[in-house]
Amino acid sequence: MTGSFEKVLDLAERRGFFWQSAKDLYADSPAGFWVYGPLGTRMKNKIIELWRRAVLKEGALEIETPVMLPIKVFEASGHLEHFFDRLVECKRCHSRFRVDKLIEESTNTKENLEGMSDSQLAELLKNVKCPKCGSINWTDVKHFNLMFTFPVGADATAPNAALRPETTQGSVIEFKRAYMISRGRLPFILAQVGKVFRNEIAPRRALIRMREFQQLELHVFFDPEDVNSYREKLEGLYDYKLRFHTPKDRITGGITEMTVKEALESGYTVNPLITYWLVFYQRFFNEILGFPLERLRYRELLEGEKAHYALVHWDLEAYTEDLGWTELVNNAYRTDYDLSGHQRVSGVKLEVDSDGKKVLPHLYEPSVGVDRVVYHVLAYSYREDEERVWLSIPRKIAPIEVAVFPLLKKDDMVRKAKEVARNLMEEGFYVFYDDSGSIGRRYRRMDEVGTPACVTIDHETLVNDTVTLRDRDTMKQIRISLRDLPVKLRRFLDGENLESLEK
Ligand code: ATP
Ligand code: GLY
Repeated sequence: MTGSFEKVLDLAERRGFFWQSAKDLYADSPAGFWVYGPLGTRMKNKIIELWRRAVLKEGALEIETPVMLPIKVFEASGHLEHFFDRLVECKRCHSRFRVDKLIEESTNTKENLEGMSDSQLAELLKNVKCPKCGSINWTDVKHFNLMFTFPVGADATAPNAALRPETTQGSVIEFKRAYMISRGRLPFILAQVGKVFRNEIAPRRALIRMREFQQLELHVFFDPEDVNSYREKLEGLYDYKLRFHTPKDRITGGITEMTVKEALESGYTVNPLITYWLVFYQRFFNEILGFPLERLRYRELLEGEKAHYALVHWDLEAYTEDLGWTELVNNAYRTDYDLSGHQRVSGVKLEVDSDGKKVLPHLYEPSVGVDRVVYHVLAYSYREDEERVWLSIPRKIAPIEVAVFPLLKKDDMVRKAKEVARNLMEEGFYVFYDDSGSIGRRYRRMDEVGTPACVTIDHETLVNDTVTLRDRDTMKQIRISLRDLPVKLRRFLDGENLESLEK
């Protein structure tokens, strides 16, 4: 069971993980823009840092490119022509909707209708009432481009720049320079963490569909004729099972488990490089972020569903009871679509030298939407019983790592507790100090924001320099000496349980 969307959202807003931007002062602000509060910011940054460390170990080089780019970039990338959603307007009340989502929601269809043609959608619309006014009187299906465009500069009279809808184009247009200055070899991997912008027709469900959101993208440039280095990286992983939702699984809603060996031998995952990255992301979500395997699947996209640039395309999706399957990572084999497009529009040759051969590299791209990940971490962590609500956030991404309390608000205990909190901060822990209200209430407040450990200073501390260490999930406590606290706390946050720390 996961926390319901309403409960997670309520907790997130109340305790400062995230909330809707500007609404306290300007109620009619456009939707789709969200603020991360102190706890949400820290948790998101921890997730980003885990991803960063994992991909840097794989040889990725992180760069940062502008959020606004010349419009020509998006002409070359195909976004001006292809990056749209389908929109209809109710002729009676003039409300506008994204057609596929409107039909999915009003007919309770679990299937994603993104791949349907305009005329198929128009046909289905004949039975769909306007959710605002109840009439069935729709305009034709129109294409609505999702990019925000602007005239940049005092002389501009028409849009000449756009906010990026993905970080990819920054990496693609800087690829050749980055490759040369780093004396790169193929495969050559750029990583970007960055904000992207889309004028979504119907932003909703908090962090799931925003107009400004953040991506963690990898841009893996490679020579399609030379991916053997990745065969070596797959050694030891041949029995690992990837979880696919193939077109034939759509009828049953099932999963096809495929070992790496089977995926490679059947050619389903194209080549060892793509196979490796599919394994990498399934493991990252399962083993590093703690997402249950049975709630993850790679959904294979069909013609009409795939992005305009993709030859092969899987969405890594995660399941919650309320939202069903939600896409978290776009995994696309983009071939040389982007580099060729920029070569054509700019007139600049973008081939590079690789082992004495001129190559126009292909691009494979896993693109994580980190805001959706933040939501799912909270939904999977949400627990409640008669006594309390708590977030069982994986210890290493909990925003507050340890809370420090004096048992009673007495001068000597408060002084000692503040000293312990200060020392832990100096040791590099994220610490929260609290001496207000009963100790039970203080524990509950920390449970609710997922703080894995609470340290309490009591009468005994003043006598023998020992404190209690409490585990959020079991509520058990052990007594440890202050001298051992930093080391044992680190071990606890790294995953050890209290019993083993007592030894
Ligand atoms: P969807 O089908 O849900 O509109 P998409 O296929 O357009 O998503 P991609 O273009 O593949 O999304 O973007 C890469 C990742 O960015 C997605 O896997 C998702 O995690 C995230 N993402 C996309 N759109 C949004 C959005 N509006 N709000 C928050 N995250 C998003
Ligand atoms: N870069 C993949 C996407 O955002 O579509």
